[in-house]
Amino acid sequence: MNARPVFNAREEMLSRLRARKPATALERDFYVSPEDYQIDLEMIWYRDWLFIGHDCEVAKTGDYLTVQIGEYPVIVVRDREGALRGFHNSCRHRGSRICSEEHGKAARLVCPYHQWTYALDGRLLAAREMGETFDKTQYGLKPVHVASVAGYIFVCVAKVAPDFEPVRKHLEPYFAPHKLENTKVAFEITIVENANWKLVWENNRECYHCAGNHPELIITFPEDPTITGVDGGFSNPHIASKWKHWESIGLPSKFHISDDGQYRTARYPLNPGTTCYTMDGKAAVARPLTDTITEPDIGSLLLFHFPTTWNHIMADHATTFRLLPLSPTTTQLTTKWLVHKDAVEGVDYDVKRLTEVWLATNDEDRRVCQENQIGVNSPAYAPAPYSTIHEAGVTQFVDWYATHLEERLTEDAK
Ligand code: FES
Ligand SMILES: [Fe+2]
Repeated sequence: MNARPVFNAREEMLSRLRARKPATALERDFYVSPEDYQIDLEMIWYRDWLFIGHDCEVAKTGDYLTVQIGEYPVIVVRDREGALRGFHNSCRHRGSRICSEEHGKAARLVCPYHQWTYALDGRLLAAREMGETFDKTQYGLKPVHVASVAGYIFVCVAKVAPDFEPVRKHLEPYFAPHKLENTKVAFEITIVENANWKLVWENNRECYHCAGNHPELIITFPEDPTITGVDGGFSNPHIASKWKHWESIGLPSKFHISDDGQYRTARYPLNPGTTCYTMDGKAAVARPLTDTITEPDIGSLLLFHFPTTWNHIMADHATTFRLLPLSPTTTQLTTKWLVHKDAVEGVDYDVKRLTEVWLATNDEDRRVCQENQIGVNSPAYAPAPYSTIHEAGVTQFVDWYATHLEERLTEDAK
C-alpha cells in the first residue's frame, strides 16, 4: 500500500501536522492519501481502544461477534466462566479466518479449512495428524485486549493497550442508571460511506448542516452549537436547569470530557415537547429501558469515543453507532437500536417507527460525506477555517486527531 518508504511518509505527515493552522480543516492528503490512511491505522486504529459491540450481543457462553479492524480480523467470545475473550480471528495453522459470520454461537471455535479446534479460552484442543513432536500448547489463538463497561465492549489490537480504567471510571456513572446490559438489539444496519473516516466524524461533530439536510432529525434534535460544540452547555441556562433536575433524580448529566479530548459524556434536552428521536417526538418503545427511571423526558445521554463511536441514550431506547475505516475513502457505519430485553416487537415497539429518523439521517449524512469527499479529492481543494460558532466540535475532533497523531509519531521517531 505504501508508495513511499514508511518513515518518509511519517516524517512528512509530522511536518504537515506541525504546520497545521488552528481551527482550520486538514489538508487534502489527510483525506485521500493511502500513506496517510496507513499511518492512521498504525498510529490510531491499531493502538487505541475501539468500541465494537454490546455485552447483550454476546450474553451467553459461546456467543461471539467478529469485526474487521483495518487488516486485523478479530473475534470476541463469551467463555465458559462468563468472561469476554478477544482473539485474532486467524488460525494458527495456515492463517485462515476461523469465524466469518458477524455474530454466532459455538461450543468450540473450529477452523473451516482443516478443522483445527480451539476452546473458548483460545487453547488449541485438536489438530489432526500433526505428528508426534507437534506441541499444541504453542498454537493457541493470539489474544486481543478486551474490556467492557456499562454494556459496551471495547477491543485493542496493540501489544500493550492504553489504560482502560479512565474510560471505565468516566462512563460507568453516566451509563449505570440506563442498565444497557439488560437490553437486546431490536434492529441493526451497516452502511458504507464513500468518505474518509475523519470526514464522517467531522460531519458528526456539527449541526451546521442539520437544517439544510436533516428534516427528520431537526424535529427533535436541537440545532444548538452548545450541544455539538465543546463549551458543553454550561453557558446555556435551559441546559443548566435540566442538568440540575436530572442530577437530583440520580442521573449524572453534566458535560464531561476526558483530558485528552478522546471521549465525552453529556445529557442534553431534545426540542421542547419531545423526548425521543421519532417523527412525532414521543417515545418509540412502551417498555422503558429500566423501571427505575420514571420520567419520560430525560433528554438524550450523548457519548462519543474517538475513533469508533457516538451514541444517544434515552428513557425508552438507545441508538449506538460504530464507525470502522475500510479504505482511504470508504468507511463502514453500523447503527444499532437497543431496547429492553423483554420488549416485544409489534407490542411494545414498531421497528419502522423506532428506526425511521436515524435511517433517514444516516442516509442524508452518507450523501453529504460522499459529496464532501468528492470535493476534497479535487486538487483545487484548499482548507478553510471552521465556523467558531457552529463548528467548535469539529475543531475539537481535528485537534484531538492531530495532537494524538503528532504525539505518537514523535514518540515513535525517537
Ligand atoms: S488454516 Fe485453520 S486448520 Fe488449517
Ligand atoms: Fe448529520
